[in-house]
Amino acid sequence: MKMWSGRFREPLDPLFDQWQRSLPFDWQLLPEEVAASKAHALALEAAGVLTPDEREALHNALDLIASRFHAADNSGPAWVASNQQAEDIHHFVELQLVATVQDLGLKLHTGRSRNEQIATDLRLYVRSRGQMLQSYLGTWAEILLNKARAAGEAVMPAYTHLQRAEPVLIAHWLTAYAEMLLRDVSRLEDCIRRANYCPLGSGAVAGATLALDRSIAAQALGFAGPTPNSMDATSDRDFVVEFLQTLTIIALHASRFAEEITLFATAEFGFVELPEAFSTGSSAMPQKKNPDLTELVRGKVGRINGAAQAVTLQLKGLPLAYNKDLQETQEPLFQATIAIHQMLHLLAKFTHALRFRTERMQEACKTGFMNAMAAATYLVHKGVPFRTAHEKIGNAVRYCLEKGCELGDLSLEELRQFGAEFDEDFFAAVTLEATLDCHDVLGGTARAQVRASLDGLQERVNELIEVRGRADLGLNAASEVSHADS
Ligand code: ARG
Repeated sequence: MKMWSGRFREPLDPLFDQWQRSLPFDWQLLPEEVAASKAHALALEAAGVLTPDEREALHNALDLIASRFHAADNSGPAWVASNQQAEDIHHFVELQLVATVQDLGLKLHTGRSRNEQIATDLRLYVRSRGQMLQSYLGTWAEILLNKARAAGEAVMPAYTHLQRAEPVLIAHWLTAYAEMLLRDVSRLEDCIRRANYCPLGSGAVAGATLALDRSIAAQALGFAGPTPNSMDATSDRDFVVEFLQTLTIIALHASRFAEEITLFATAEFGFVELPEAFSTGSSAMPQKKNPDLTELVRGKVGRINGAAQAVTLQLKGLPLAYNKDLQETQEPLFQATIAIHQMLHLLAKFTHALRFRTERMQEACKTGFMNAMAAATYLVHKGVPFRTAHEKIGNAVRYCLEKGCELGDLSLEELRQFGAEFDEDFFAAVTLEATLDCHDVLGGTARAQVRASLDGLQERVNELIEVRGRADLGLNAASEVSHADS
């Protein structure tokens, strides 16, 4: 029987009936629905609607439903999703309750509406998945830091306009991504902070028809407090949009990393060795090892951003308060969350297995005049204004291009054609080490600066992992050791 059949004389059109149901996707909210129902039962008990025994019987029955959902054989999701009777997850839980505690199950719906239930479930979902993703981001960042430490003082070219610019430490490049991931963690934190209010007690639109103490359910669910306005609470999905926009930014970061690795794995660059476990071959060309993982990561941004756009458009111009349109926000939310979860898990494992061809990266730093900035800085230290120094080194570079050599290969006589300021100490100022260390500024690639930045990042990542835990990537101890130095 429908939850609302009293007023109706005609049955639903069967196609429409199937089409309007949300159980085929909102089954994912079962844990949240059970938690919210238990919290509501506490509020009903305090209001004198349920006796302590009744409340306990309901809690036990709800726990039973949750444990069946989490059954070790993984049969839970299919058990819920395949139910043909229930319209949505709220109806499903009610039907299960009635099957175990009869009319007491129906009593739980006193003083509440599905409109506040779904709003509550979705906030709980965003909070728990947001926290889970924070743990994945922290775990991936930790792996990036491990790789950065293992790279030591190995160097690579940094690019601007995808042209060789200046040498940097590989660690400097890797920690750039760790910074992005920690920003993502804080974006999720912001989003969770605003979502962390409890709609329970908001009723269908105007507030519960019982004088419930709303702080009881809010507290039981770990929310910061009850939402202040029932019309807003039952129709607000801002937190879904914010969450999906945050996921979009995570996907953007992942895609930039993926693009660099894809590029660096080409024969032309040859900077990284793709792990076989995360690459595929070609059915036509026997020699191929393709970077499918990074390509798919790059491609996923489309659907993540698509989810954010879908929900944005669903909310546009929607009158207050609840409208069934809001049901449409669920699938993009679930799909994007699952996609990001899988992506972060794989990227962490992939990064762990990635090997850098440090000799090729180092070799690439030796040509292309990447010490030209350092050379100009040398002249600046001799009192030459930077603009003039730039011009003089530019002339020297042109001379080298014609001669087919690098700045450090020129003799002092040759250098002096471009400026009287050149001296013997020039050659020490344009070595690779000197070129790195002349960027001795906070956030720069001087070796001491990178070490300090790595220590600072490590502290932030450790704090995060302490709070959110380390994601279980299923890495075995052997691979932990064998990849430690790559
Ligand atoms: N499945 C619905 C949704 O996701 C639950 C709320 C239904 N409320 C209603 N008045 N029909 O939005």
